[in-house]
Formats: sequence, structure tokens, C-alpha cells
Amino acid sequence: MKQEHAVIRMDVLGRKAWLKVYVEDERRFKLGVLDLAARVLGVRALRPPPHWGGARACATEHKRLQELAACGARVPEVLGVGPNALLIGDIGTTLKSRLHETDAAGQARLIALAVQALAQVHARGGHIGQPYARNLTVTDEGGIGFLDLEEDPRDNMTLEQAQVRDWLVFAAGTSRYFEHPEVEFAALLRPVLQAAPEPVRTELVRSVRRLRIVERIASRLGERARRIGGALASLRIALDA
Ligand SMILES: Nc1ncnc2c1ncn2[C@@H]1O[C@H](COP(=O)(O)OP(=O)(O)O)[C@@H](O)[C@H]1O
Ligand SMILES: [Mg+2]
Repeated sequence: MKQEHAVIRMDVLGRKAWLKVYVEDERRFKLGVLDLAARVLGVRALRPPPHWGGARACATEHKRLQELAACGARVPEVLGVGPNALLIGDIGTTLKSRLHETDAAGQARLIALAVQALAQVHARGGHIGQPYARNLTVTDEGGIGFLDLEEDPRDNMTLEQAQVRDWLVFAAGTSRYFEHPEVEFAALLRPVLQAAPEPVRTELVRSVRRLRIVERIASRLGERARRIGGALASLRIALDA
């Protein structure tokens, strides 16, 4: 397996921290189900952002950490900067591991917190990029934190598209925690998506419509695609006025 970069947990002066080392990487695109759909169906919000390794990825993550902190989002504090490494503070346990430790009610409560946190970042003019449960954290105080910011979707799309992307990516990663995502997850998303600014809502409706074919055939394409189908159905229902 090609080593892309290393993320190492450390103790710095008695405090938990993480060293993230960015290795040069020739890979430009990761082609997943959503990326493929983005190309075939022309969903702009899902175009993969340019993927850099080394110093450029490091600089992107450093810049994004500062931008998001300025938006009031919980992101790691930058403790040290090298040409291709960042030393950052700890912001808690990943949402993914918290979701695996709790029951259905606990999962719904955590996901509701994450939905609110994402909406708040958006309301302040921010975007995340890869808001999968493994890249979100739950802090000791119960707040939601954001990690893994080495790619910036704003390199190849507008802010509205980047915010739409956040909802598509978040839903694709999180719908699996609901037994009936098109009921429970959609109910949780509805108030937030209905309150989103008009250009974002319009672009999200347009993207979900274009992805309808994926939603329809997803159940026949295996487990991962089936979850994406559930995510798209949840978004579509949540957006229905
Ligand atoms: N600041 C941090 N606080 C808590 N956990 C972290 C932090 N940084 C990294 N991690 C842990 O390391 C994992 C990988 O870090 P991430 O920035 O997502 O890099 P990658 O690009 O390898 O996914 C995260 O999923 C999380 O478990
Ligand atoms: Mg990650």
C-alpha cells in the first residue's frame, strides 16, 4: 500500500497532540461511487478537489484550519508548522468511534449535533470538504470538531457548491446509522436544509435530482452504494417542501 502520509499521536508537554506528515503524492483523483456519479451525471458539487501531497497539502490544511477557526468552528489548534508537517492539538474522539459505542438513540443525538455544527459553519460562510464521521470528533464537552482539511473544494467550485458537497458527503457517510434513513435522518435534516440560503438549497435540489438514477439503482450495487442510496433519499425527502 502506498503511504500517503502519517498521522501520529503524541504527548507534548503533558498534552495530547497529533503530528500529521504530508508525503509527496502523485495521485490526483480518488474515484469512489460519488466521484464517478459526479463525472457521469455532471454534479458539480461532487467533483473531486485537486489532491496534493507534501508541502502543498500541508499549506492547504494550515490555511483551512485558520479559516475555519475564524468561522468559529472547532478545529485543532496549530502547535507547530514545518514545510510538510503540522503539529496540532487534540479535539476529541472521532464521531465514528462514538457512533459505534452507543445505541440508536445515542447515534441519532450525536448525528443531530453534527448536523447543527455543519449548518453553523455554513451560516458563517465556511465549508468543510470531507465531513465523514471519521473526520468529525466529539469533544469532552460534547461539541463537534472537524478534521482532515488537506483538500480544499473551493479550489474547483463555488462556496455554494462546496456547502452542497458537505451535505452530500455527510449524508453518504452517516445515513447508515439509521434503520430508516428516509424517515429518521430526513426528519433531522429537514429544518436545517429548509433554512439553508436559497442558492445552496437550489443547488442541492438540482444535485439530488441528477443523482436520482444512482438512488434508484443503488440497492442493486452492493452495500456501499445502498447506503448512498439511503443518503440521497434522505436528502431528497428533507428538501421536499
Ligand atoms: N487533532 C486531532 N484530534 C483528534 N484526533 C485526531 C486529530 N488529528 C488526527 N486525529 C485522528 O487521526 C485520524 C487521521 O487524521 P486525518 O487528519 O483524518 O488524516 P487522514 O488524511 O489520514 O484521514 C483521524 O481520523 C483521527 O482519528
Ligand atoms: Mg481522515
